Amino acid sequence: MTALTDMADLSIEDGIAVLTINNPPVNALSQGVRQGIKDGVEQSLANDDVKAMVLICAGRTFIAGADITEFASAPKEPGLHPVLELMENASKPIIAAIHGTALGGGLETALVCHFRVSDTGARFGLPEVNLGLLPGAGGTQRLPRVVGPAKALAMMTSGAQIGAAEAHADGLVDEIVEGDLREGAISFARRVVADNVPLSRVRDRDAKLAVDASLFDDFRKSIARKTRGFLAPEYNIRCIEAAVNLPFDEGMAVEAELFRELMSGPQSRAQQYFFFAERQAGKVPDVPRDTPEIPIKKVGVIGAGTMGGGISMNMANVGIPVTIVETKQDALDRGLGIIRKNYENTAAKGRISQDDVETRCGLITGSLSVDDLADCDLIIEAVFENMDLKKDIFSRLDKIAKPGAILASNTSALDVNEIASATSRPESVIGLHFFSPANVMKLLEIVRGDATGKDVIKTCMSFAKRIKKVAVLVGVCPGFVGNRILFPRQTQANQLILEGAMPHEVDKVLVEFGMPMGAFQMSDLAGLDIGWSAETSKGETIRDRLCEMDRRGQKTGAGFYDYDEKRNPNPSPVVEKLIREFAAEQGKTLRDISEEEILQRCIYPMINEGAKILEEGIAIRASDIDVTWVYGYGWPVYRGGPMHYADSIGLDEVITTLRKYQEMTGDASWEPSPLMVRLAQEGKNFSSLN
Ligand code: CAA
Repeated sequence: MTALTDMADLSIEDGIAVLTINNPPVNALSQGVRQGIKDGVEQSLANDDVKAMVLICAGRTFIAGADITEFASAPKEPGLHPVLELMENASKPIIAAIHGTALGGGLETALVCHFRVSDTGARFGLPEVNLGLLPGAGGTQRLPRVVGPAKALAMMTSGAQIGAAEAHADGLVDEIVEGDLREGAISFARRVVADNVPLSRVRDRDAKLAVDASLFDDFRKSIARKTRGFLAPEYNIRCIEAAVNLPFDEGMAVEAELFRELMSGPQSRAQQYFFFAERQAGKVPDVPRDTPEIPIKKVGVIGAGTMGGGISMNMANVGIPVTIVETKQDALDRGLGIIRKNYENTAAKGRISQDDVETRCGLITGSLSVDDLADCDLIIEAVFENMDLKKDIFSRLDKIAKPGAILASNTSALDVNEIASATSRPESVIGLHFFSPANVMKLLEIVRGDATGKDVIKTCMSFAKRIKKVAVLVGVCPGFVGNRILFPRQTQANQLILEGAMPHEVDKVLVEFGMPMGAFQMSDLAGLDIGWSAETSKGETIRDRLCEMDRRGQKTGAGFYDYDEKRNPNPSPVVEKLIREFAAEQGKTLRDISEEEILQRCIYPMINEGAKILEEGIAIRASDIDVTWVYGYGWPVYRGGPMHYADSIGLDEVITTLRKYQEMTGDASWEPSPLMVRLAQEGKNFSSLN
C-alpha cells in the first residue's frame, strides 16, 4: 500500500488499483483528499499493470461532501473540477464503492466514476441547498441525467436522500453488494475488465432528459410556500432547466455562474454558519463526552393537553413506551383521541402506514394515577404554568419516582430551581422545554438548574437526539433564552400599534423578513387569554379589551384579526377602531411608521436581549441563541439567527440604532448591553464568542 497523502492511499491488487480515502469523520473532500485522488488516478493510469480503479472510503461513510471549513479561505490546489474531469475522462474504468452517505461533492465524485456499486445501507443526496448553495461540481447537470429531472428537482431543492434500492432502480447504482463492499467492488471491476464493458460517462446520457415543458413551473408552484425567501431552491431549479435545455458544457457554465453568486451571497454565509452552529450546540464545555448516561427505556408525561400529547408522540415515534397521566378520565380520553387523530392524519397523507399508527398508539398508555410512573426513567411534567401546581406535582414525584429517574418540567418560563426545591433530589431535576407543536418543532431547550447533575444533562442532550430534536442547553432566568428574547419584541409590537402601525402592518414586516408569522398572528394562535381573567380584567391594554369582547384569538374566530372558516387572518376594522380609541384615551397621536422602523424596533431589542443573555452566561454561546430562534420560532435560517444577523449588520450600527430609539422613546430598556458595546469597541462580533 502506498500513502498518496495523509488522507488517501493506493494499493494494487492483481490489476485493480484500490484508492482509499481516509479523512475522518465524514471523508470530506479536503485538499489532501483531492490531491490523493488526483495522484492515485494519475499513477494508476500510468501503470500498465492497472486495468481498473476502485474508489472507496475508510470509516463510517463515503465522501459526505466538500470540506465546508475550506469555503471561507482561498481555494487550495488542486480544485475539485479538474480532479473530477481527470476521473471522468480516464481511459480505464473507475468504480465508486459507496457506503454510508454519498452527499454533495461526494455524490458528484461518484457521478464522474464510470460505475457505482454500494452496500445495502448506502444513501445518496445533494444537500447543498441546505447550505444556501447548489451542487457546484457538475451535480446539477449529471444527477438529472441519471434519475431524471423530476426526481432531481425533488432531491436538490430539499436535500432529501434516497436509499440504495431506489438508487439501484434509478440506475444511479449499478450493483448492490450484499457482502463485503471492498471485495464486491473489486470483483465488479474484474468483470468490467473481463467483459470489456464500454466506459459510460454520465455526461453523455440524455435518455431521461425529455420532460413536459410544464414540469418546472408546476414544481416551482408546489414548493413556493415552503421555500419562501430562500434563493438556493430557485437556483437549483434553474440549473436543472439548463441540464434539460442546453448542451452539457453550457449547462455547466450556468451551474458555475449561479454557484458563484450563491457562494458570495449572505444567505449561504448564514446557512453555512448555521450548519456548524447546530453541531456546536450539542457540546457542553463542562460536561465531558464520556459522562455516564442514565438509560431511558420508559417515559412518563404528566398532562394530556396539547403539549403533553405532542411530547408523548415524540417518544412513540421512536419506539419508546410512554405513560400519560391526567387527573380526569374525559381529559385523558380527549388527549389520547387527539394523538390518534394526529397519527391518522399523517397516515392519510401517506407519511406513515396504518401499522405505524397502531404501533405508535400502542406505545402510549393512559393513566389517572401518578403512581403509575414509578418505573419510568424520565418523567416530564407538562401542566399549565403555575408554580404552586408544579411544585405540588414535583413533591409527589419525589415520593414515587425510582431513584435516579430524571424529573423534568416543560415549563417555558418558570424558575427550575424553585421547582427542584420541592424535591429531595434537585440533582435529578431539569427543564425540558418543548416548542408547540411539540411533535413538529425541532428545538428542545434544556434548562439546567443550579444543582442539575452532569449525568442528567448528558442524558437529556443525548435523549434529544434520540427523539430527533436539536437541543440547546441554557441556564435559569425568566423565559430562558427563547421566550426571554420574544418578550421585548412583543413589547415593541404592542407599542407600535399605539403609535400608528396596525397589527397587520407590523406582522407584514416580520413575515417579509422571513418569520413564519407576525407577532399578532402568534398571539392570536397562542390565545390572548393566557394569564387573563374576566373577573380581574381592567381593560388596561388592547389585549384586555379584546378578551373582554370575547375576541380571544383564533380559537374564538377573532382576536387581533378576524378569521374566516379556513382560519385565514383578515385585518379587522373593529380592532382598528378599538386601537384608535384606546390611543386617543391615552393621549397618543398616531403617525405613519415606516417599515424600516417597524423592523428595527421589533428585531434590535431581541439582539440586545440576546447580548444580555450571553453576558449573564444563560446561553453558552451566541450561536446557541441562533439555533434556539431558528428551530424554536422559525427565524429564517438564511439570516442565520438574531446574533448572526447582528454580526452581518455590524455591532456599531446596531448600537447606533438602539441609541436612536432610546433617545426617541426615552425608554431605558434600549440601552445597549455592555457586552455588545465592548465587542464593538474591540472591533469584534458575537461570533467571536462562539
Ligand atoms: N465539511 C466539513 N465538516 C463536516 C462536513 C463537511 N462537509 N460534514 C460534516 N462535518 C463535520 C461536522 O461539523 C461534525 O464535526 P464535529 O464533530 O467537530 O462537530 C462532524 O463532521 C460529524 O458530523 P455530524 O455530527 O453531522 O455527523 P452525523 O453522522 O450526524 O452526520 C452527515 C453525517 C450526514 C455527513 C452530516 O454531517 C452532513 O449532512 N454533512 C454535510 C453534508 C453536506 O452538506 N455536503 C455538501 C457539502 S457542500 C458541497 O459538497 C459543495 C459542492 O458541490 C462541491
